[in-house]
Amino acid sequence: MYLADRTNRLGTETAFEVLARAKALEAQGKSIIHLEIGEPDFDTPRHIIEAAHKALDEGWTHYGPASGDLELKEAIVEEMKSTRSVDIGVENVVVTPGAKPIMFYGILSCIEEGDEVIYPNPGFPIYESMINFIGAKAVPLTLREEKDFSFDVEELKSLINDKTRMIIINSPQNPTGGILSLEDLEQIASLVADRDIIVMTDEVYSRMVYEGQHHSILSLDGMKEKTILIEGFSKTYAMTGWRLGYGVMPKNVADMVSKFMVNSNSCTASFTQRAGIQALRGPQDDSENMIAKFKERKSVIVDGLNSLPGISCRTPKGAFYVFPNIKETGLTSEEAENKFLNDAGVACLKGTSFGANGEGYVRFSYANSKENIREALDRIERVLTG
Ligand SMILES: Cc1ncc(COP(=O)(O)O)c(C=O)c1O
Repeated sequence: MYLADRTNRLGTETAFEVLARAKALEAQGKSIIHLEIGEPDFDTPRHIIEAAHKALDEGWTHYGPASGDLELKEAIVEEMKSTRSVDIGVENVVVTPGAKPIMFYGILSCIEEGDEVIYPNPGFPIYESMINFIGAKAVPLTLREEKDFSFDVEELKSLINDKTRMIIINSPQNPTGGILSLEDLEQIASLVADRDIIVMTDEVYSRMVYEGQHHSILSLDGMKEKTILIEGFSKTYAMTGWRLGYGVMPKNVADMVSKFMVNSNSCTASFTQRAGIQALRGPQDDSENMIAKFKERKSVIVDGLNSLPGISCRTPKGAFYVFPNIKETGLTSEEAENKFLNDAGVACLKGTSFGANGEGYVRFSYANSKENIREALDRIERVLTG
């Protein structure tokens, strides 16, 4: 069947493709350690699951408001107050099936064909995909290893012109684990202050910070009117399969994003939203314990990678990824991805899955047990030295 031209501009996330290749090898009896997929290996906390059971029993099985369950939106308003020190109203919140639709609908709502959007590279591949898909120009902002995967302000300044309509930022960052400092955010805020530029800030890893603290550009003076904040439940509460996320944005944008919801999903599943209220307002211990475990694993994987020949790895400050430099191994990112998967039985992602600036790197997710991480490191050492 004929496909529309614009589909040629749609990108993808190769994590799912590597997962499929890894599963095919497993089906042939090969042992694979999965360090490719970006999801917690923990189960959703029990009290959240129970809230969903209860919601089903209570009949939360019907359509709900397109922009989200009112009580969940109230819980999100409280969450923004307590974590970002910002006063918003329920009219600024839209709940979606996962955080991803906020990127999609936010960009569709605010960006015209021919506009320019600055986005982090290496970065979450869906930003570039969405920008290209709608016919805007994707302008990469290089994240630099020597700056702990932050950016150079002068370089950002040089990328801004009259066509720039949006700057996308992500902190803590996928794939590098870097975080933006308050100073970085203040510089971005001052660059957009007198310009008609929106900041889209992806903060789905906001609770996963191991050094320093999470800062949000939404908290800075004057930024409430210029910011689309993306948050979700997938990572913090190990709820990837539930599909629950949200965005905070100016009311006119929220109205348009809700309209896209009417035109696509109608609403986010009603009973999962009731579980979301429990996630935000209920006990946080499970989530905190999970994050403490990630912190321990981070040290194991960083130390292990730094002891391998040709590999050097910065200590990430957040999320659950490491982005080691593999240039000295003589392998390209793609060769490393293939070699580690096929010869070592370790699934990871080539750095170029996150944009051209990811060449020379691979991404490992350390959402796996310490035993498996140690075994993966041993296996990689064997193929690099063998
Ligand atoms: C930076 C970033 N933003 C958004 C998402 C999507 O999250 P969700 O599962 O809530 O759609 C991911 C998932 O990997 C991510 O890494």
